[in-house]
Amino acid sequence: LKGDSCIRIESLAYPVFIGPDPWKELGHYLDSYLLKGGIFLLADHNTNKHCLPVLLAKLPGLARCPVFLVRPGERSKNLRSLERIWQWMIENDAARDSLLLNLGGGVVSDLGGFAAATYRRGIKYINIPTSLTGQADASIGGKTALNISGIKNQAGLFYDPLAVFICPAFLDTLPKAHFISGFAEIIKCAILSGNGFWLKMKNHDGSTDEKIHELIAESAAFKCGIVKSDPFELAARKILNFGHTVGHALESLSFMPGRARMLHGEAVAAGMICEAYLSYETAGLHQSELDEIRILIGKTFSLRPVESHSYQEIMNMISHDKKKFGGSVGFSLISGAGKPVFDKLVTRDQIIRSFEYYNSLIKP
Ligand SMILES: NC(=O)c1ccc[n+]([C@@H]2O[C@H](COP(=O)([O-])OP(=O)(O)OC[C@H]3O[C@@H](n4cnc5c(N)ncnc54)[C@H](O)[C@@H]3O)[C@@H](O)[C@H]2O)c1
Repeated sequence: LKGDSCIRIESLAYPVFIGPDPWKELGHYLDSYLLKGGIFLLADHNTNKHCLPVLLAKLPGLARCPVFLVRPGERSKNLRSLERIWQWMIENDAARDSLLLNLGGGVVSDLGGFAAATYRRGIKYINIPTSLTGQADASIGGKTALNISGIKNQAGLFYDPLAVFICPAFLDTLPKAHFISGFAEIIKCAILSGNGFWLKMKNHDGSTDEKIHELIAESAAFKCGIVKSDPFELAARKILNFGHTVGHALESLSFMPGRARMLHGEAVAAGMICEAYLSYETAGLHQSELDEIRILIGKTFSLRPVESHSYQEIMNMISHDKKKFGGSVGFSLISGAGKPVFDKLVTRDQIIRSFEYYNSLIKP
């Protein structure tokens, strides 16, 4: 990405634009919907404050569109928010030819995508991701989701956006903790991709990096390639769940009263260390690559221990997340950087050993 250039990833059925000024392209998409069923804007309180003014300055025609705000964060990714969004759309006469614009992080795109998929049996939507997780991963691939009873992504469907517009300048206002959290999905893509992307990531020495634009573009392009090969996650796309079986369990557990909240990326980062260990035990990952992975994650994230009294709860959560195969769980692992495997059977004892390995890395 150089200067003002905007790249356009074309591998999916819809384009993904990345660049400092993708707004002219977005304008082309919006023109017809302003005339048809109208445009509806979904944001959260933070993206309303920091990102919507930027968008309106570029596309003033959007100023008259109805805007719905959800509270920031994971607690909005639920049925209650969904119902409120439906009600707001009904009250504002949203029609089948209306368009929903999702301006926010992964929570807004997961929730907004779900709302668009289900309002009047489906209307079009566009994602404008504003967080690092959103830009590098969540806005792409058409997976929409809600948490049910505090368990991650228990309801959801595959429903593609019309297009995705990624403007890295939005990251300027993203709080540091959320910025770092976004590195989890980038590190995951680099591990799964191997080769140059993995090499670049291993040599990455911190969290604030002017090369972030390139990392976003590499992650997005990698994800597009995998999603193209298997849009409905019947096989190859499962590799993108690396780190997420344990990660989602840790994240879901952290929603419980009295627990320290984990951001999505923090949970996936811990999950990747555990699952890299499982890869070492069961899938032939070499010790040296296990070390490289834990070193990279350890220097990017401050790791928190997994308490041994939570092991059983985590195992229960994992069984919500994945189908059980006769007492074992199907994991997406790696036999090396760039060598993903999926549906690997792993036993309870091996999972517990992965928690112990993870805890052994954390200095008291
Ligand atoms: N559908 C998918 O393929 C997919 C992939 C990865 C993650 N996810 C989901 O994405 C979610 C995590 O995404 P996230 O980290 O973006 O969460 P998020 O949407 O909660 O955003 C993180 C925080 O940053 C704030 N924020 C976002 N952009 C900002 C900006 N430009 N300036 C200031 N504040 C800003 C938000 O208000 C929020 O407080 C999880 O629910 C996860 O399950 C989905």
